[in-house]
Amino acid sequence: MTQIWTPSSWRDFPAVQLPTYKDQASLKSVEERLRKAPPLVFAGEARSLKAQLAQAVNGQAFLLQGGDCAESFADFSSDNIRDTFRVLLQMAVTLTFAASSPVIKVGRIAGQFAKPRSSDSETIDGVTLPSYRGDVINGIEFTAEAREPDPERLWRAYAQSGLTLNLLRAFAKGGYADLHRVQRWTMSFVDNSPQAERYIDLATRIQDALKFMQACGVDPNNAIIRETEYFTSHEMLLLPYEEAMTRTDSTTGDWYNTSAHMLWIGERTRQLDGAHVHFAKGISNPIGVKVSQKMEEDELIRLIDALNPHNEPGRLTLITRMGAENILDHLPRLLRAVKREGKNVVWSCDPMHGNTITENRYKTRPFDRILAEVINFFDAHNAEGTYAGGVHFEMTGTDVTECLGGGQNITSKDLENRYHTHCDPRLNAQQSLELAFQISSKLKEHREKIPARV
Ligand code: PEP
Ligand code: CO
Repeated sequence: MTQIWTPSSWRDFPAVQLPTYKDQASLKSVEERLRKAPPLVFAGEARSLKAQLAQAVNGQAFLLQGGDCAESFADFSSDNIRDTFRVLLQMAVTLTFAASSPVIKVGRIAGQFAKPRSSDSETIDGVTLPSYRGDVINGIEFTAEAREPDPERLWRAYAQSGLTLNLLRAFAKGGYADLHRVQRWTMSFVDNSPQAERYIDLATRIQDALKFMQACGVDPNNAIIRETEYFTSHEMLLLPYEEAMTRTDSTTGDWYNTSAHMLWIGERTRQLDGAHVHFAKGISNPIGVKVSQKMEEDELIRLIDALNPHNEPGRLTLITRMGAENILDHLPRLLRAVKREGKNVVWSCDPMHGNTITENRYKTRPFDRILAEVINFFDAHNAEGTYAGGVHFEMTGTDVTECLGGGQNITSKDLENRYHTHCDPRLNAQQSLELAFQISSKLKEHREKIPARV
């Protein structure tokens, strides 16, 4: 039976990880308000991202995606937004300069509020309550009242996303991202680290290159130098919200989800016959899918065919998250299958979600394992002759102590000092920059081994 896709047709399919709202009337009323509310992004912007991702399919560009595991209402501040924007910009400039590759910047931001959970409930001291599912659904406090899903949170998350995006657009286009300021993006606590020294050295070389280009007659006010492009993304989990934000584009007549430029389907919601995959089929945005070591080759090919039936480059990004060791056994077989079938995909590496451990009662991730997964990712692509297309991080611009190791050598005892995440542990600014330097050399080597297809 073929059925016509509409933004609400996912409701006929099994949907996992969605909350049950007691107050259906107020849910309906929030959905109605959202449906009439302004879009957060335009279809044309999503198309531009898709065109850039199409270049990453062929090794002509590299995707850098990152941000909080979960945004929260409590941590909403312009400083936090600026710091996360700035560290992603620093990473991007490092990769662009050191590996001579265009970098596509996509934040896990301005909508990353809904979280899938392995367990529906949480028990503390004999008391069992529903799990926290992200600020767009319920509250993190361990009380029955906070844990009750509240429809009004959809509206609050929408409003916060709009305000966040407004600032991000100002940073990207209003002068902050001007390459002439590359040195001033340095953050105070990074100042004395080896990463800071390397970064300042790189910034000096960029300044020299800009002076050279100006001397050659290149206009220093050119938008390419003065401005940057920055896209938004989040996990497309809470379908009532995503449905309400989905509109037809007046230029093409196609459906676009206007809540973010790019949306991804999580590891727990990627069932072929499930509601999340069905919903993704009908929208024209670039789509990501998380892929763990559990994925079978034929299952992956069927998923690719379902989500990208016309094999359009840039439409689909496969975000592998297997763990530093698992990736060695499982990525090559998937790379071979996708190559054999001639599927156009961006391969991106999420080295966070397969490397989570518990230390001293804190969920954490060792920097060395994160780095090892990225290195193994590049080596697998070098061996198979496929393109390593990007990376996906949980990171923040602030000086948190959530992941172990790195240049600051954060130990399990340090975790309690500044452990602020609402969900998974994030790389701090210094760890993020350190990783960017490491990735730059792997990317440079990769481009030499597997030259871009032109
Ligand atoms: C996430 O990206 O925060 C996440 C939950 O990932 P995954 O679906 O890969 O577990
Ligand atoms: Co996470």
